[in-house]
Amino acid sequence: MDKIHITTPIYYANGKPHLGHAYTMFLTDAYTRYYKLRSYETRLTTGLDEHGLKIERAALKHGKEPQQFVDQIATEFQDTWKRLDIIYDDFIRTSEPRHKKIANQVWKRMEENGDIYLDEYKGLYCVDCEQYYRESELQDGQLCPIHETPAELVSEPSYFFRMSKYQQKLIEYIQEHPDFIVPKTRKNEVMSFLLNNKLADLSISRTSFQWGIPVSGTQEHIMYVWVDALVNYISSLGGIETEEFKRFWPVTVHFLAKDILRFHAVYWPCMLFSANIPLPKRLVVHGWWTIQNRKISKSNPATRVDPMLLAEIFSSDGLRYFLLEGTTLGHDGDLVYENVIDTLNTDLANKLGNLVSRVTKMAQRYLDGIITPLPDAPKQELDAELEKRAYETADAVAKNMESYNPSAALKTVISYVSWLNVYLDKTAPWTLAKKPEGKERSAHILAQLIEALRWVSIIGYPFFPNLSLKIRQQIGVEEPMIWPILFQPTTRTVQPDDILFQKLDLREVKDLLSSVLLSQPPKV
Ligand code: MSP
Repeated sequence: MDKIHITTPIYYANGKPHLGHAYTMFLTDAYTRYYKLRSYETRLTTGLDEHGLKIERAALKHGKEPQQFVDQIATEFQDTWKRLDIIYDDFIRTSEPRHKKIANQVWKRMEENGDIYLDEYKGLYCVDCEQYYRESELQDGQLCPIHETPAELVSEPSYFFRMSKYQQKLIEYIQEHPDFIVPKTRKNEVMSFLLNNKLADLSISRTSFQWGIPVSGTQEHIMYVWVDALVNYISSLGGIETEEFKRFWPVTVHFLAKDILRFHAVYWPCMLFSANIPLPKRLVVHGWWTIQNRKISKSNPATRVDPMLLAEIFSSDGLRYFLLEGTTLGHDGDLVYENVIDTLNTDLANKLGNLVSRVTKMAQRYLDGIITPLPDAPKQELDAELEKRAYETADAVAKNMESYNPSAALKTVISYVSWLNVYLDKTAPWTLAKKPEGKERSAHILAQLIEALRWVSIIGYPFFPNLSLKIRQQIGVEEPMIWPILFQPTTRTVQPDDILFQKLDLREVKDLLSSVLLSQPPKV
């Protein structure tokens, strides 16, 4: 059986989840559902990055012990993912003993390879990024280029990782594995960085704070939070000696946004080279969601919108649909509520919802809800086209998903739905049903449409899972969803139900939308 292990970054536990995090969750959940349909054995992991100065300071600000603080945040993240219908297999937290043990094991393997040495670190550090910067990388030599806050001067004893040793090996690896980093633009960015800069060794421990994983065998060193966090991808599998690891590594695909590309495309591969662990299969790098062109982020209060509340307004399928449709993976997308409402009304209410409603109601009205295939009914050109388009659409969805363009995949599903509406209008089964000589043809048309709706429910499942299940219920499909699919109209009992997707009215949701900004500071 083919296998795939999909991961999200583990998010910083310094505040509630926002819409940017939700995007990565919808994306990875959609991929996991897609591969499940394709009969892969799948594993989706997510979790929280709970250590480091940034979290320690956030806890202090709220008058909490760090552990108590992150426990509360973990519950909030888990509740949010539940509300958004994200199905993951593991939620790994870096403060868990199972993680700490493996982080130290990986460290030890790097050490045994002669790649860790003690020295003194003196330099500039951005706590929000949890990253060291060279003066030349800072705005005016002082401000973090992302957070625009002053970098702090750090001077303390530190363990270093001989990252420089792996520069050439990494360059060759990426050249030999051109699909290791997708999209290509991100691969090119990493290559150009590696070819034009000399990799410095990396400071991988700190002594000036407490909240983290103590480096075993030392008194005062705490593991650098990025070394600690990256290991989550392995500690979630129980380490490198487990059955789980053998099953799911290295068929691992890390999804992440562009801001943490260097950690995943440079630090992490070098750490793995050093620890003698194979590299994951792929890094899929997406862009940012912005509001009025400002990145949605915790440090930017005006952009922190609560995905839970948005799901109350748009439904979790609606929110998922818009986020996946609204931007090509790799590009940024700007959240404009008018566009969300427009897209959902057009695609989910008008195109999909109306089709389901019209077809199921006609099936009830003209066939008492019982659809029977009529293999000998005379076929017209349009019928053959309906079937041909079904296969072509499924192929296009697969091709686009596998080349990391879920937005194009979803658009092909909805354009098939549009075409089905045209088929329905052109064949007009409601007119035929009223004439004795047209009854058989009308029944055949409806059987074709019900089968096409079953088809849509499968290929659309990654993008609107709840609607897909509702459609199946209405058209009486009970068998499990499996893809590849055969176009094979079957006897079904159809039962129309409530409106599939309620149309949204901007005036009605305006007040609700004004309350979706996350409170600041988070309620803990
Ligand atoms: N803790 C690190 C990751 C460690 S992984 C070993 C971190 N955390 S984070 O809370 O800042 O989350 C970053 C991730 O959240 C991004 O890589 C992306 O997956 C998601 N996003 C955060 N803001 C986002 C947007 N505005 N838009 C899209 N995705 C966003 O970095």
